[in-house]
Amino acid sequence: MKILITGANGMLAKSVKERLKNGNELICTDVSDLDITDKNKVLEFVKNLKPEYIINCAAYTAVDKAEEVYDLADKINGDGPANLALASKSVDATLVHISTDYVFNGDLDVSKSYVEDDAVEPVTVYGKTKLHGEQGVQNNTDKYYIFRTAWLYGDGNNFVRTMLNLAKDHDEVSVVSDQHGSPTYAEDLADIIGQAIEKKIPYGLYHATNQGFTTWYEFTKKIYELSGVTTKVKPVTSEEFVRPAKRPKNSQLDKTKLLSQGITVPSWEDGLKRYLNN
Ligand SMILES: NC(=O)c1ccc[n+]([C@@H]2O[C@H](COP(=O)([O-])OP(=O)(O)OC[C@H]3O[C@@H](n4cnc5c(N)ncnc54)[C@H](OP(=O)(O)O)[C@@H]3O)[C@@H](O)[C@H]2O)c1
Repeated sequence: MKILITGANGMLAKSVKERLKNGNELICTDVSDLDITDKNKVLEFVKNLKPEYIINCAAYTAVDKAEEVYDLADKINGDGPANLALASKSVDATLVHISTDYVFNGDLDVSKSYVEDDAVEPVTVYGKTKLHGEQGVQNNTDKYYIFRTAWLYGDGNNFVRTMLNLAKDHDEVSVVSDQHGSPTYAEDLADIIGQAIEKKIPYGLYHATNQGFTTWYEFTKKIYELSGVTTKVKPVTSEEFVRPAKRPKNSQLDKTKLLSQGITVPSWEDGLKRYLNN
């Protein structure tokens, strides 16, 4: 299959390329080859290429910085996916787009997890622009997969790497213990995308993270335990660790819809073990 991957130097894109490299023709573009905010260029590029799938891994992902640059973040996260959806439709391609738990307000009781149809109410610039992107896809093509993910880590700067670096010169680190979610290994999300394409599951919006829920505090303890690190982990509240963009207390995404399509999804502990072994 001919597959266009945008934002191809990003963390998730690296795993997607690896997952799909066998048996497919991959055309990988970064912002210098194809800026997804340039509507005419996107339409022309896709018209000439005629891919069967477009996988959009391009995004503005600096959650805190986004608070100061709404227009830039919205162009990339909001307008970009709409351009790609229009282009997909023009050549009858399927668009795969990645979204986030930040489309929710994160206030749901942590005994529950969000399903795809729950009411969206983003409270950060990043979340608002990513919701705009979902709508841009849904309003411009029917042949799409939107995978909402969360707490992604892989080949790039990420939480696991940060915590391991901190451990090098700290006897103790403080980590928030009241935010709940699923750490998601980019390789596992890439595999979900691969399975969805290969199984041709019904188009639509799916929640896609590793299985199981934890907190950043428990996640850090597991990272250190599996790495043989002796640095202590101190639990703190979100209120003690204020960031420019408010973090959701509940990022738990229900995966029933995805799993009911026969997609297999490993646990977050299993993903972490493989990441650390790599
Ligand atoms: N990381 C997470 O925890 C997380 C959580 C939930 C959802 N997501 C979503 O998952 C997806 C993948 O995230 P990621 O962490 O892999 O992102 P990433 O590493 O930041 O990669 C994004 C890529 O997009 C490129 N890009 C930026 N603007 C572009 C433009 N106008 N045209 C083309 N490319 C552009 C970036 O290039 P430059 O670096 O050159 O700007 C970068 O290579 C995103 O949709 C993100 O919103 C991520």
